Amino acid sequence: MGYRFGLIGYPIKHSLSPWIHEKFLQKAELQGEYNLYEIKANESFAKKIDELKKENLNGFNITVPYKKTIIPYLDELDKKAAAIGAVNTVVCENGKWIGYNTDGDGYLRSLIKAYPLVGQDKNNKILILGAGGAARGILYTLSCNGYQQIDLANRTENAARELKTLYEMQNTNLLSLQEAENAMSDYDIIIQTTSVGMKSTDGHAIVKVNGLSEKNIVSDIVYQPVTTNFLRNAKNEGARIHYGHTMLLYQAQYAFELWTDVRVEINEMEQELLEQLE
Ligand code: ATR
Repeated sequence: MGYRFGLIGYPIKHSLSPWIHEKFLQKAELQGEYNLYEIKANESFAKKIDELKKENLNGFNITVPYKKTIIPYLDELDKKAAAIGAVNTVVCENGKWIGYNTDGDGYLRSLIKAYPLVGQDKNNKILILGAGGAARGILYTLSCNGYQQIDLANRTENAARELKTLYEMQNTNLLSLQEAENAMSDYDIIIQTTSVGMKSTDGHAIVKVNGLSEKNIVSDIVYQPVTTNFLRNAKNEGARIHYGHTMLLYQAQYAFELWTDVRVEINEMEQELLEQLE
């Protein structure tokens, strides 16, 4: 019968996850399917989860707004997912649901794939813009992987301070967005983790870029549009760019690996995904 995977979230009608995972199944020469299980705000989450249990899936992904909501319904929680406080992947094994978070690792994998030297130089000075759920996963993963010079810039200082305290990041400086603008060129890697710049929002850049060059890597986790205004401005200054759609592929690669034990190669899928997004 093959593998049965799925996605819960809302809205998910336009999700690219079915396309990505069905490609992975083909590449791995495995039989299977990936379906959408939308849960609307006015529906009972508990009831929907009961129905999902009966589907006997091998695994599923969880996206907004349920990455935290799912946690009480799990039988086990991986350490990393517990530390991040959010789950984006569930493995269903012998009747048990085990929660993982592949977002941070997917992000780091995609960054190192684009810029392999980042994987070797843990002294890179990193600036994270934002202090929400996405920033939390990325900050935690970077710090677990030995990157210690990470500063945080957020509109609301308190949210950034909470993250600093949570992960005991003694070396982390907290910046206002204005300070981040002024100091941007001091950082080797600048990571935009907020939703600012998405097609569905106003598309503005969260901060202006200033004095960047090919020495700086500028990354945006937004993938629609593929080139946000923030990335476009950085590119115009000569910075090296890391695109959000690659994170989407690598977090999925890691989820697929948890489900099947197969690590599929991404390679040409980056280009193919771009065509889906354009
Ligand atoms: P996610 O889980 O997707 O990261 P979130 O937890 O709601 O989403 O976090 C949103 C992040 O985007 C926060 O860092 C938020 O800043 P505040 O902590 O000040 O709210 C940031 N953000 C959202 N809209 C913003 C805007 N218009 N300008 C600047 N920052 C914004």
